[in-house]
Amino acid sequence: MQPNKTRAWQALASHYDALKDVHMRELFARDPQRFERFSLRFEDILLDYAKNRITAETLELLLDLARECDVEGWRARMFGGEKINVTEDRAVLHVALRNRANRPIRVDGEDVMPEVNAVLARMAGFTERVRSGDWTGHTGKPIRHVVNIGIGGSDLGPVMVCEALRPYGHERLSMHFVSNVDGTHMAETLKRVDPETTLFIIASKTFTTQETLTNAHTARRWFLEHASDESAIARHFVAVSTNRDGVVKFGIDPEHMFGFWDWVGGRYSLWSAIGLPIALYVGMERFEELLEGAHAMDEHFRTAPLGENLPVILALLGVWYVNFFEAHSHAILPYDQSMLRFPAYFQQGDMESNGKSVDRQGRRVHYHTGPVIWGEPGTNGQHAFYQLIHQGTRLVPCDFLAPCESHHPVGEHHPILLSNFFAQTEALMRGKTLEEVQAEMRAAGMDEASIERVGPHRVFEGNRPSNSILFRRLTPRTLGSLVALYEHKIFVQGVIWNVNSYDQWGVELGKQLAKTILPELSGEAPVTGHDASTNGLINHYRQVVRG
Ligand code: F6P
Repeated sequence: MQPNKTRAWQALASHYDALKDVHMRELFARDPQRFERFSLRFEDILLDYAKNRITAETLELLLDLARECDVEGWRARMFGGEKINVTEDRAVLHVALRNRANRPIRVDGEDVMPEVNAVLARMAGFTERVRSGDWTGHTGKPIRHVVNIGIGGSDLGPVMVCEALRPYGHERLSMHFVSNVDGTHMAETLKRVDPETTLFIIASKTFTTQETLTNAHTARRWFLEHASDESAIARHFVAVSTNRDGVVKFGIDPEHMFGFWDWVGGRYSLWSAIGLPIALYVGMERFEELLEGAHAMDEHFRTAPLGENLPVILALLGVWYVNFFEAHSHAILPYDQSMLRFPAYFQQGDMESNGKSVDRQGRRVHYHTGPVIWGEPGTNGQHAFYQLIHQGTRLVPCDFLAPCESHHPVGEHHPILLSNFFAQTEALMRGKTLEEVQAEMRAAGMDEASIERVGPHRVFEGNRPSNSILFRRLTPRTLGSLVALYEHKIFVQGVIWNVNSYDQWGVELGKQLAKTILPELSGEAPVTGHDASTNGLINHYRQVVRG
């Protein structure tokens, strides 16, 4: 089904023409029940989507679009273990990793749950030994540093969650993450750790990723420079992968490998053994709470009617802005310092999933798909890029997220933080008219000439949409639910845009070309095989480094 060929899409296009110039101030004035009408609750999470350029009719039409695109059917196919990742012939079952109800989920007729539970049990045993101090380094000292070596989905989830759940972290353990193949990342990390008390986790689904293997070999060499012999590796290196042979070839005993499966996409893998750093840091019980939170959101997504379904609503609002308002990007703005990496996590989650221009049938699409995802924690963003969100020429729909209670209730910090959150969403919605600006300037005693000259610069058009997501406290459970909320939003949008959200062929070409270029960097003859720019860059580099 091509979404732009549906009846709902055509109806939305006409509806857009009627609504595009209507200001949200007017929508709020017309309907005093707007908050009640356009907000939803899930456990201790409140989603307020009243500050969007929608009416009840918009929502109905968007829901029609979801039905016409068979969101419910695709949802059943995903949860049922069907191979909806058609280009890789794989099921998409991150939901099985947190299927705490243990409902059988079958791939090729086999229930995957026993294997999922077996890996969780092994993770529990291992994390308990490390956390208690029973698992020691080769000189008998307990582990103090955990260095996760991975990239993309084998890095961002653990980084994001460990940062977010710092209040629950083990006090003896320092967590480190090395992802970039830039030697600086590894060198700076190795300066901060001690070979006797460091555990390296080599995390790679494929165990072929150039960056990860390069970093892993460097870590191994560094470790062996400090260890008596190779047998010490067993106490300091473990692997998380689907590629047993690759792990063995690297020199890690399969006994110290935690497996997962091809039906877990890299950017959806934090719930699998890829979450080992999380479990080490916060403990297996907390890790399981994270899984439970995600599972609760899965159940909500699987069973709630579309109009009351948080991920579906977020997805439809996104489609409304991308496809009808031509919004290019979407900002994720957590008002919580510990959610520092949440926007970066969903940069991969969303952009690697829905950054596609070919539909499931291989046809070029004639509508826009995934937006650019970006963001930083508030209030830092306010003093950096909010200028453009308030007064720029582009529409940037925003998600504001915040806990009502801080883990660090220091003085007035949290009320100040939240007053900024609420004020920003209000300002984006209401704006400030020229008349309001002029009245304000007159009241401040400014002369008429200045008012005329500066007034227009101080006008805020407003009518800029935002979702507000408030939750009680950032617990492992709530974080699990929030991550799953966004995962399912991405799923629904992928269904509507008729793209396969679970492959990532777009990352391949650069990898392939880098393989050709690497030997050229150390070659003798001038490089001539590329375009003039690429040849020029490579030859310039060689000249500089050779002096
Ligand atoms: O290059 C993109 C990618 O394949 C991501 O999808 C993935 O999360 C990342 O690389 C890391 O892959 P791996 O876990 O196999 O090392």
